[in-house]
Amino acid sequence: MKNQDSILIFGSSGQIGKSLIRKFTKNNYRVIAVTRSIHRKGYQIKTQSNFGYLELEEVNSFNEENISRLMRKTSICINLIGILYEKKENQFDLIHSDLPFLMTKVASKNALKQFIHLSALGIESAKDSKYALSKLEGEKNVRQNFPSSVILKPSIVYSVDDNFTTNFMSLLGMLPVMPLYYEGKTKFTPIHVTDLANIIFEIVQKKVSSETIECIGPEVFTFKELILKILKSIKKKRLLIPLPLFFAKINAKLFQLMPKPLLTMDQLKLLKYDNIVSKIYKTNFDFNMNANKRFEEEINRYSFNWTSGGQFSKKRIDKIN
Ligand SMILES: NC(=O)c1ccc[n+]([C@@H]2O[C@H](COP(=O)([O-])OP(=O)(O)OC[C@H]3O[C@@H](n4cnc5c(N)ncnc54)[C@H](OP(=O)(O)O)[C@@H]3O)[C@@H](O)[C@H]2O)c1
Repeated sequence: MKNQDSILIFGSSGQIGKSLIRKFTKNNYRVIAVTRSIHRKGYQIKTQSNFGYLELEEVNSFNEENISRLMRKTSICINLIGILYEKKENQFDLIHSDLPFLMTKVASKNALKQFIHLSALGIESAKDSKYALSKLEGEKNVRQNFPSSVILKPSIVYSVDDNFTTNFMSLLGMLPVMPLYYEGKTKFTPIHVTDLANIIFEIVQKKVSSETIECIGPEVFTFKELILKILKSIKKKRLLIPLPLFFAKINAKLFQLMPKPLLTMDQLKLLKYDNIVSKIYKTNFDFNMNANKRFEEEINRYSFNWTSGGQFSKKRIDKIN
């Protein structure tokens, strides 16, 4: 029998997944969290919820049968599975386009009440990026197979658990100079992960359907401004050098050889395009789902991990003295 108050989450071990588990279980929902490896990710997922509110499911090869088995347990499904770079040929298409196609086909067969799919902001014009094209194809597939889906398109999502601010905090701690691609002029609308989790929670509570919503925070910053804010927060000064595209490409080609690449050629292409509202779709603010957390204030809450004095360099301590 389907449990009306349970949520099935694919990609639950990631930054957004963990925040969602906390939000939903705190509010008395049961969460069925899917991961490819309980052995590797289970210990992180389990600590996000109160005892008794979480069911862990391991699926490492997705097919109609195992997705259907999971969907029979619930009426609400959230798909957070996504990758930033390909480890194998066509992986973007498989993960961002083919998998959502299969999920929504099965969701439709099982008559789910809500399907929420995470895509990305600022991809409409990025016709030269494989990431962007695969995400757009995924949106099309989701809308076609499960027309009442809610498709969410966030800008950069940040928190102490992210792949963005924390990577730059580490990188800026090590490098004496920081290259700026496209002169650091690309614009972003960062949203804090808990603001995004609140938006997703409200979408479930208010039974929002058939919408595509751009999820943005309250501020717009250029890439250079973001880096300057991170530097201020970790109390470091670095030389920021605009890198001509020719050298940026060499840079990306070298970086993408790393096991966990800092930058790939595809990401360099994507960085050309502003990550701000497209005006094609409504935003969370149009639905009165505000996102109020301010970038500088929020990163200051965890950046002390990357400052020279660690937690004891926090302003809070200075005030006591
Ligand atoms: N974070 C952002 O700034 C941002 C911005 C725009 C859009 N989004 C989108 O929001 C969604 C969630 O983002 P996130 O930041 O939470 O991502 P994340 O931290 O990278 O987590 C994504 C999850 O996807 C699963 N996954 C990764 N590769 C997979 C594969 N090959 N097969 C099956 N599952 C795989 C992983 O789960 P397991 O390892 O447990 O299986 C992982 O926990 C993604 O679709 C992302 O594209 C994120």
